[in-house]
Amino acid sequence: MLLTGSVTQAFLHSNGRPLPPGFVWGAAGSAYQVEGAVAEDGRGESIWDRFVGVPGAIANGDTGVVACDSYHRFGDDVRLMRELGLGAYRFSISWPRVFPDGRGRVNQVGLDFYDRMVDELLANDIEPYVTLYHWDLPQVLEDRGGWPSRATVGAFAEYVEVVVARLGDRVPNWITQNEPWVISWLGYGLGVHAPGRRNDADALAAAHHVLLAHGRAAEVLRREAPNARVGVTVDLYPMYPLTDADADIDAARRLDGARNRWFLEPVLGLGYPTDMLEQYESILPRIDDGDLRTIGAPLDFLGVNYYSRTVVQAGPDPAFPVAVDVDGAERTAMGWEVYPDGLTDLLLRLHGDYDLPDVYITENGAAYTDARSNGSVSDPDRISYVERHLAALGDAIAEGVPVRGYFLWSLLDNFEWAFGFSRRFGIVYVDFETLERVPKQSFLWYRDFIAAQRSAQA
Ligand code: FCB
Repeated sequence: MLLTGSVTQAFLHSNGRPLPPGFVWGAAGSAYQVEGAVAEDGRGESIWDRFVGVPGAIANGDTGVVACDSYHRFGDDVRLMRELGLGAYRFSISWPRVFPDGRGRVNQVGLDFYDRMVDELLANDIEPYVTLYHWDLPQVLEDRGGWPSRATVGAFAEYVEVVVARLGDRVPNWITQNEPWVISWLGYGLGVHAPGRRNDADALAAAHHVLLAHGRAAEVLRREAPNARVGVTVDLYPMYPLTDADADIDAARRLDGARNRWFLEPVLGLGYPTDMLEQYESILPRIDDGDLRTIGAPLDFLGVNYYSRTVVQAGPDPAFPVAVDVDGAERTAMGWEVYPDGLTDLLLRLHGDYDLPDVYITENGAAYTDARSNGSVSDPDRISYVERHLAALGDAIAEGVPVRGYFLWSLLDNFEWAFGFSRRFGIVYVDFETLERVPKQSFLWYRDFIAAQRSAQA
């Protein structure tokens, strides 16, 4: 009864009507976070395999060596998806499973795994959304310079070609890159993600090459799989000035430029934002003629990951805006503010400022300190988080933003990068000792929500 009650409420929040027919209900995961089996069937080393060995890099010294063992338990995971009534599952391909040496030799056994996975999903009426890069660069390519090196772009295009040749007949939706800001700045600028480098010019070079790799991948996809739908996922944070003082408004503009527009505008065909080009002038990488045309080729969809907002204040140096924590704000276990209106504001702003293709929310969800008690996991905070964000999404759709689907992050509790297993985002609890999967209350809630949406559309 309680579950039914919350579904009704969510309808009311989304202006009393279900989301549009054909709306895609999904969930997401990524290779290194769930697969495990890092040394199996010829997989090569990735930058994350190396980075987890750096003392202090990962909470509690956790690693993805086993993770959720989805490499072996994928059938169980698909059964859970089916029980949920998912229409789509977003997962990523591990580049070093396909190219253990970075370039050259293809490991067909690695590809076989994804081949089986795609077939299993399709057999269960679940549409695969494949992410080609979710952060696990082959270590040998990092040794040759990594993303700050332009040569990595060519290696990526070769990898995409091989993957598409194998899966392109069955996979309709492709996401070239996941979160270019995180890849470049957390990996190469701030050093908190693999490969742990700390240099602003490297981060900016990495960003350019990740975007270029997106563009090259899109070309390969268009050529090799003409019916494929091609998209890219950016993580966006709406910026709110702390006060309406000019200095705070300017600080919010700058942070929006660095965090959002630098990535969003080139993939929408608009090139790099001029205000940011000025700011980055002294550390810009080589940008060849034609690069921005490649990056800006038309998209079938834009993937947006939304978790929270950022409140911004001017710092002592205007070039360095300061993100501030709002006192008393509701927060998840990541410390991220829960701010559903930010999703509506963000989507309305995108719709107002740009000519958008279809949009999918490719990630949204929350970590809380879940515990198992008598075989079940009660997670009312997560239900409330998802419910309020879906309502916020409904509001944006009602205003005409072309959002076509929603992927909850995450299906399973998994390896949360630098936080290891200490942060649980799943709607399925994973016991990392036994690898047992226990659906949380939020799983049941999402199942009922999807079912109610479908019957309201019927
Ligand atoms: C995103 C990542 C995803 C997961 C969530 C919590 O930045 O794409 O892998 O870690 O955050």
